[in-house]
Amino acid sequence: MKTAIAVNAATGKMGQQIIDEAIDHTAIDLTAAFCRSAHPFYNKTVRRSSNTSYSNDIDKGLSESQVVIDFSLPSVTVALLERAVLAKTPLLIGTTGFTEQQLTLIDSASQVIPILLAPNTSIGVNATLSLLSKAASLIGKESNIEIIESHHKNKLDAPSGTAIKMGNVIADTLGLDFSERSVYDRSETNTPRSESEIGVSVVRAGSIVGEHKVLFALENEIISIEHKAQNRKCFAEGAVKAAIWLAKQNSGLYSMKDFID
Ligand SMILES: NC(=O)c1ccc[n+]([C@@H]2O[C@H](COP(=O)([O-])OP(=O)(O)OC[C@H]3O[C@@H](n4cnc5c(N)ncnc54)[C@H](OP(=O)(O)O)[C@@H]3O)[C@@H](O)[C@H]2O)c1
Repeated sequence: MKTAIAVNAATGKMGQQIIDEAIDHTAIDLTAAFCRSAHPFYNKTVRRSSNTSYSNDIDKGLSESQVVIDFSLPSVTVALLERAVLAKTPLLIGTTGFTEQQLTLIDSASQVIPILLAPNTSIGVNATLSLLSKAASLIGKESNIEIIESHHKNKLDAPSGTAIKMGNVIADTLGLDFSERSVYDRSETNTPRSESEIGVSVVRAGSIVGEHKVLFALENEIISIEHKAQNRKCFAEGAVKAAIWLAKQNSGLYSMKDFID
């Protein structure tokens, strides 16, 4: 049986990629594509012979869907969250850049509906997280650890949700608190780095889709673990597969790891 999927912010870069992925997928029925009424796509049929039109009737779209995928802005996700709870529609969140307060709202909503919160939906990045945990357990204590992430010039949040996730995975493995160990700016300190800090550097340039490199620097050698997204399809593929899985779960807060494992 096909899974009925709604796509929020369907006109965005990721929204469009999800639409492409969903339309081509034999196990998916694209039941709704939400966009703002001011957008030129509004009321137009979603491409390639789909029967679905772009709409902003979110309540109707959610009630007809088994899961909704959201890659938008934190404030837009939070507005959708309320409607998804009312409609009891599972929600896959790919949006990044949430405040602690917004994360608390997501956590509360997950008591009512299944929510998958994924700062990165690519299967490759999630495999990279496992490699990072392994590297941290082998050599993390003796290494100077640095995370370097690069994205396109229009990305709003920094550092990326993926860089923060990588930092948390490494810190958790080492029994550290990433928020206490992370260092984003050394311009004022004028001191050598401390052993247990985790440096995070951000590049914003051109049309870079998403690159993350983590250095484990020892005295005489460096291990570098790197993931480069070649295009947005890797995020859409993972999101759509995870959404099919999420539609069948009970209420709760899930990560990509729960889906992959
Ligand atoms: N989890 C992952 O693997 C992953 C991968 C890539 C990106 N992301 C994250 O996904 C999010 C979106 O990225 P993107 O590159 O697709 O961004 P984008 O191209 O800028 O798309 C943003 C979307 O949000 C919509 N939007 C903006 N303000 C709105 C409002 N007030 N009400 C309703 N809709 C609104 C836009 O609508 P209009 O078209 O009308 O402007 C557009 O559809 C970001 O947080 C990004 O970091 C996550």
